[in-house]
Amino acid sequence: MAQILQPTPLNLDRLAKILADGGIVAVPTETVYGLACNALDPTAVAKVYEAKRRPSRNPLIVHIGELESLTQIAETSEDSEKLIKAFWPGPLTVILPKQPIIPSEVTAGTPTVAVRMPSHSVFRELARRCSFPLAAPSANPFGYISPTKAEHVEQSMGDSVEWILDGGKCEGGLESTIISLTNTVAPILLRHGSIPIHELEAVLNKKLISKEIKAEVSQEALLSPGLLRRHYSPHTEIRLFEGVAPKPGENEAIVFLNANDCRREGEFSLSKNGDLIEVAHNLYDTLQRLDRKEFARIHFQIPAAIGIGQAICDRMGRAAVIGPPLARIDPG
Ligand code: TXA
Ligand code: MG
Repeated sequence: MAQILQPTPLNLDRLAKILADGGIVAVPTETVYGLACNALDPTAVAKVYEAKRRPSRNPLIVHIGELESLTQIAETSEDSEKLIKAFWPGPLTVILPKQPIIPSEVTAGTPTVAVRMPSHSVFRELARRCSFPLAAPSANPFGYISPTKAEHVEQSMGDSVEWILDGGKCEGGLESTIISLTNTVAPILLRHGSIPIHELEAVLNKKLISKEIKAEVSQEALLSPGLLRRHYSPHTEIRLFEGVAPKPGENEAIVFLNANDCRREGEFSLSKNGDLIEVAHNLYDTLQRLDRKEFARIHFQIPAAIGIGQAICDRMGRAAVIGPPLARIDPG
């Protein structure tokens, strides 16, 4: 059974020691909780894949606490320096050529590595106590919703994770933006996050190519091509709507973006007044909470796919079995 520890100096010291000894610890970041281990220890990395039941061909993000560690891990470039200066510490992951110190287990045998420097103060306190970078995927069972609270990790992974560091509810609530800088022609946007594309392009002074990550596809999904894009999925059937809510059937819930639209029982909201930053902050928590209520179906309102709305639509599209055509919310 997992133990949730508060971020006291004593607990942080204890968890840093557990990590140094090859253990795994669920840790808070400003995006979602991660399942961390020493990125330089292949045996510890194997434990993370095992706990998540994640296919070994799906690489992990390496998280650092200090910028100085970066050159040890990856080969930097002019573009990476621009992005890092603008967005680190924060919810941006860059993919760069890896340095030999990073074991191939972390990168699923590819010559590239994904790196991120989280801004969450508790994460940084822990990272400061570790003399190695932390490899961490989101701390959810493969294919389920990412956790934004320590309790979510306990509920979905309590049997396979011993230690959870409590850093409160994640500020951002959506996984980081991922940009690959390994293509010499142009940077590639692999995953939408909270940073609007125009801001990334302005910093790079370049257009991004959009290319969805295809790696996060389970064997099961491969057998059912209709589900190829399904990910971040609750157990309850999710349907999406834009604008006017559908008439709910028996035992069906409706989730609005704005609390002012809630009128009756079975209606919920993602924010007080439709602010999409607040929607992102509450999205996964609401999904997980409602997923436990055994509704027959949940109808979610989606925002316009602009700015952070693009990442929200992307995640909701993956969580839904049926919804608006996904092509509309494709990055490109
Ligand atoms: O916000 C986040 O990014 C969270 C927190 C914990 O940092 N982490 C996270 O990790 O979402 P994960 O493993 O759930 O998603 C990382 C994605 C995966 O789709 C993986 O395939 C991709 O990043 N990835 C990792 N390394 C890569 C590489 N070298 N090349 C291409 N894609 C990579
Ligand atoms: Mg994940």
